Amino acid sequence: MLKTMKVVASGRMRQPAFDLLDAETTLYPWQKGGRMPQDAFDELLAEADGLFSAGNIRIDEALLAKAPKLKVVAQASVGYDNIDVKACQEHGVRIGNTPGVLVDAVADLAYGLLLDSARMIVRGHEHVKSGAWGEHKGLGFGVDLAGKTLGIIGLGAIGSAVVPRAKASKMKIVYHNTHRRADEAELGVQYVDFATLLSTADFIMVMVPLTEKTKGLIGAGEFAMMKPSARLINTSRGKVVDTMALYDALKEGKIAAAALDVVDPEPLPGDHPLLTLPNITITPHIGTSTVETRDAMSLLTARNILAALAGKPMPAEVFAK
Ligand code: DGY
Repeated sequence: MLKTMKVVASGRMRQPAFDLLDAETTLYPWQKGGRMPQDAFDELLAEADGLFSAGNIRIDEALLAKAPKLKVVAQASVGYDNIDVKACQEHGVRIGNTPGVLVDAVADLAYGLLLDSARMIVRGHEHVKSGAWGEHKGLGFGVDLAGKTLGIIGLGAIGSAVVPRAKASKMKIVYHNTHRRADEAELGVQYVDFATLLSTADFIMVMVPLTEKTKGLIGAGEFAMMKPSARLINTSRGKVVDTMALYDALKEGKIAAAALDVVDPEPLPGDHPLLTLPNITITPHIGTSTVETRDAMSLLTARNILAALAGKPMPAEVFAK
C-alpha cells in the first residue's frame, strides 16, 4: 500500500535501509556518496512523501516550501540541529531521529579521545612515523586517568555509557545537567554546579546537544575557570565550543590538551590554526562510524519513514519543545 509513496534520499543509505525502503515504497536513492545534485533533488522533493536525510542538508522553511506533499523527514543521526523543528511542525511534517542505537559507538570514541588526551596516542604514532624515536627527542609524559575527575557536561544516554568506561580506569565522575538525574547513586556520579565542574575536573567532556542555549557554551570565560592541567573532549557538536577561544586556551597553556570529534567549522580545512597546535587531536566526526551502528541508524531511519507514512507511531519521533 505504501508502494505509491515516494521517498527521496539526500545521501547514501546503508544497504539494510535501502532494501527495506526499496521493497516498501517508491524510492529515489542517492548511493554515490556526497549529496544528490540540487536540481535533481528539488525535482524529486516536489513529489516526495518522505525524505531520508543523511544529515547533510538543512531542513528549513526553504526546503519545506519546495516539498508540498512531504509528510516525514527522518534523519540518520541523533542530533537534529540542522532541522527547523517548528517549521516542520507548521507544515505538518513529522521528524524522526536515531537515539539509542548509537550510544555505545559514540561512548567508545569519547572514551578513546579521553585516553588520547591523557596519553598522546596519536602524537606518539606521529613521533614514530617521523623517525624521531631513538633520537632522544621525547614526547614528554602523559597523565594517569586513575584517581582523576571526569566532568561530564550533559549527562544523557551517551554520557551515562561513558561512565562505566571511565570507572574501569578508576576515575571519579561528576556531572552537570540542567535537570539533575534521579539515578545518580545507581550510576555512581556526583552532581556539581557548572562553575565547580569547570574549575575542578581534570577531564571535561561536552555531551550537550546544540541549541540556541548551548551555542558557545564553552568560551574564553569558561577556559579561564579550568585548571591549566585540564583536558577537553567534545563529541557533541563543534559550535558548543568557541573555536578561537579554544585555540587561545591551548596555545597559551590555559588548558593542557583537547581531543575533539566535532569542530566548528566542519569539515575543518587542513590548514586551520587548530591543526598547528601540538596538544590537540581531531577526528572527522566519526562518533557513529562503525558498520553495526551505521546499519542500525540507517534501518531505524527507514522504519521511522515507514511508520509515519502509514500514519503509525514512529519508533523515534522528535517533537517541538
Ligand atoms: C549524530 O547522530 O548526531 C552524530 O553526531 C552524527 O551526526
